[in-house]
Amino acid sequence: MFENDIAKALAVEGLAVQDVFCALEVPKEAKMGDICLPCFKFSKTLRQAPPVIAAKLAPYAQSLPFVEKAEVVGGYLNIFFDRNTVAAGIAPLATSDVVGKSDEGRGKTICIDYSSVNIAKPFHIGHLSTTVIGGALYRIFKHLGYNTVGINHLGDWGTQFGKLIVATRKWSSLEEVAKNDEYFLNSLYVRYHKEAEAHPEMDDEARAWFKRIEDGDSEATKYFDVFKKVTMEAVGKIYDRLKISFDSYAGESFYNDKMESCLKILSDKGLLEESDGAKVVNLDKYDMPPCLLVKADGATLYATRDLAAAYYRKQTYDFYKCLYVVAYQQNLHFKQLFQVLKLMDFAGADDMEHIAFGMVSMEDGSMSTRNGRVIWLKEVLDKAVEKAEKIISEKNPDLKNKEQVAESVGVGAVVFSALWNNRIKDIVFSYDKVLNFDGETAPYVQYTYARCASALRKGGAFDPDKADLGAITTDEGYEVVKSLLSFGESVRQAAKLREPCLVTRHIVDLAGKFNRFYIGHRIVVDDEGTRNARLMLTAAVKHTIGTGLSLLGIDAPEEM
Ligand code: ARG
Repeated sequence: MFENDIAKALAVEGLAVQDVFCALEVPKEAKMGDICLPCFKFSKTLRQAPPVIAAKLAPYAQSLPFVEKAEVVGGYLNIFFDRNTVAAGIAPLATSDVVGKSDEGRGKTICIDYSSVNIAKPFHIGHLSTTVIGGALYRIFKHLGYNTVGINHLGDWGTQFGKLIVATRKWSSLEEVAKNDEYFLNSLYVRYHKEAEAHPEMDDEARAWFKRIEDGDSEATKYFDVFKKVTMEAVGKIYDRLKISFDSYAGESFYNDKMESCLKILSDKGLLEESDGAKVVNLDKYDMPPCLLVKADGATLYATRDLAAAYYRKQTYDFYKCLYVVAYQQNLHFKQLFQVLKLMDFAGADDMEHIAFGMVSMEDGSMSTRNGRVIWLKEVLDKAVEKAEKIISEKNPDLKNKEQVAESVGVGAVVFSALWNNRIKDIVFSYDKVLNFDGETAPYVQYTYARCASALRKGGAFDPDKADLGAITTDEGYEVVKSLLSFGESVRQAAKLREPCLVTRHIVDLAGKFNRFYIGHRIVVDDEGTRNARLMLTAAVKHTIGTGLSLLGIDAPEEM
């Protein structure tokens, strides 16, 4: 806050604005002021001791209209703002319910590839991170004025479809699959893998069926379409609950006819090498294994489709950045992909980014859809909602829209748990942790939001112009004010670092600070100036928390 003004005012005695600006720090403790300037760095150029420099600068800081005092402590200049001047800055947050919006991204398009589920597999907990991290980044960039394109690069190609056709024909029928849900489909997949161990010839049959899909055979395509439809219907329900949407579902199969031109560029540039009948790009020079693009039998691969997708996206969206929100398990794939694109002189090669995140494992080991050792997301969401329902029935049985609130709280808790840590952290899934609604959780933040809403209902209209700002600038109130005013910066940092957790952490911190204020100060009091100030603060908190939750894709019920 005010960094620019301070830097300008203190660029005296031979100091440059930029040097002062870069040296400014926000002190860890409030008793050291709102902002401080360590003067040690300047002592060499100015040939003076740091305390002398600090003392010389103090009067310049003191003369700024928003500064209450400037104290010299050792080599530091500690600057204290006039709290009422600062607090006046929250009025806009109190009067508009969407805060921290900007247009810094205007004219720039960001493609975000996220969720990208595999067809014929139910949504499991391993897909939660990419879905909600990607969804949050999508909304955060949009909030900052970027043109965002959400892409679900569906995993709708590969030998698993051949396997499913074999399984369907052996143990079920197309009609039965079409009538049933994704779990039924998955049970066929699991059974296939069990039985194929003893009957490896099934794999040949599966390969042959997949070949027929590749060749556009109508019988095989019928199966493929049903598998895709069953999965997409189920996944769509999950996306609705998670408030996730996409602008494009162009998945792997979409690129069937778009790889040839990429392969041509590669061979024209002399980059494509034969290796045992397969076609690869050698990446020895970059310390990576070769990137396999065409198998000996002519089949293309995941990487081939990603090359075609990169070209398609650049051509279609002319992106400024293209982000891939995918687990770090695929680090090598993306390193190879980006390197090959560079070698191809692809126009967007320097704008590709792998937004990696940690893996989810079960408490007793890793997950595997093949043998059925997985936790389905639907189950997790249902359990969380059930728990929320139980708590509501105990604590607030007369609540309106009980079911809807329980859905918001339960799903919110699950989403929040995936957006709490830095992306890269591995997660060991634990029901206890996800279903814990106390402490730093979505229900806690939602509860604070509802508390604000209730105070505002009770307090009625307020007028920021008639606010007695002294009523919100006690130590506790001032902490809330500062947290409110730095929310926009957290959103910007979240975008810059591709870390939605900065938003999550900010609103939890804000909720904590507001609750401490709330305990010590009544909001709806008789004194008009005090009431106006405290209602203004409460409204600003409500709008900021509400904006933060909506960026994360979490509902904010008005009552709970
Ligand atoms: N379907 C893949 C998986 O579940 C993720 C795809 C990510 N996106 C991409 N363009 N490769 O592992």
